[in-house]
Amino acid sequence: MTRTLVTGATGTLGTALRPRLIAAGHTVRAASRSPPEETEEDLEWVALDLIEGTGIEPSLENIDVIIHAATAPQGDTAAVDVQGTKRLLEAAEAAGVENFLYPSIVGIDDIPFSYYEHKVAAETSIEDSDIPATIVRATQFHSFVAEMLGYVAKLPVWPLPTKIQLQPVDVGEVADGVVDHATLTPSGRTDPVGGPKIHSVGELAQTYRDARGSQRPIIRFPIPGKTVAGFRAGHATCPDYMVGTVTWKEWLAEQYAN
Ligand SMILES: NC(=O)c1ccc[n+]([C@@H]2O[C@H](COP(=O)([O-])OP(=O)(O)OC[C@H]3O[C@@H](n4cnc5c(N)ncnc54)[C@H](OP(=O)(O)O)[C@@H]3O)[C@@H](O)[C@H]2O)c1
Repeated sequence: MTRTLVTGATGTLGTALRPRLIAAGHTVRAASRSPPEETEEDLEWVALDLIEGTGIEPSLENIDVIIHAATAPQGDTAAVDVQGTKRLLEAAEAAGVENFLYPSIVGIDDIPFSYYEHKVAAETSIEDSDIPATIVRATQFHSFVAEMLGYVAKLPVWPLPTKIQLQPVDVGEVADGVVDHATLTPSGRTDPVGGPKIHSVGELAQTYRDARGSQRPIIRFPIPGKTVAGFRAGHATCPDYMVGTVTWKEWLAEQYAN
């Protein structure tokens, strides 16, 4: 049985990974800064904080594979994603981990955005280390896109950078791809996991509005700068890897049924 540590196990991807890893026969150790008392799965929870540096060594005892899904997109990404990843790598090297698997994001090297720059730095640390590694990039999860649109949903008019291109993907399908690579044989950089279709934010917002039964007007709100230009140019998409099958419309129908 492969013994697998999942950091960020309470997150969107981590939550999708836990049952899938167990179903695939892994012995799972799930890490969080505040582990829940119990969950529905048969696994061990441990406390780990990548900023404080607490719990790292114990969490790695008798572990073959790490899936490092901890991240802080709305927090201190330098501390968690860059320094925290380095801390985890050092401990993983000492523990003799066989595969350090890092979920990452499509287009991070082509879009100047501090979170993405920190993800690139984390990928670089992983590839520069002596630990055998796997990096699986994915496009934006459906839930993330819905969360972003949720910020404007309460406004009477929805001002949005409608020309941005995204390729949302089902997190379960990303988790399936990650689990396939969570083996004792690292894969290096894998093919990315992208959703079934590329959409403009304008299209995504219209479908979201319909699913929520809203009729609020969507207006184009162009945002200047290189970050949004990178998204507009489609750098966050991977047209050659439309491997996901769950469409944005299907995902919304499931979320907003009734
Ligand atoms: N979201 C997307 O659309 C998307 C798309 C492609 C790739 N990805 C990548 O997939 C991975 C997972 O993303 P996600 O969206 O699932 O993230 P998420 O939902 O924001 O979850 C982040 C996780 O990180 C943990 N965490 C935060 N700060 C921590 C710290 N100081 N020490 C230890 N753990 C900490 C949190 O756990 P606690 O709060 O319980 O400690 C949480 O479980 C990331 O590498 C992300 O870049 C995400």
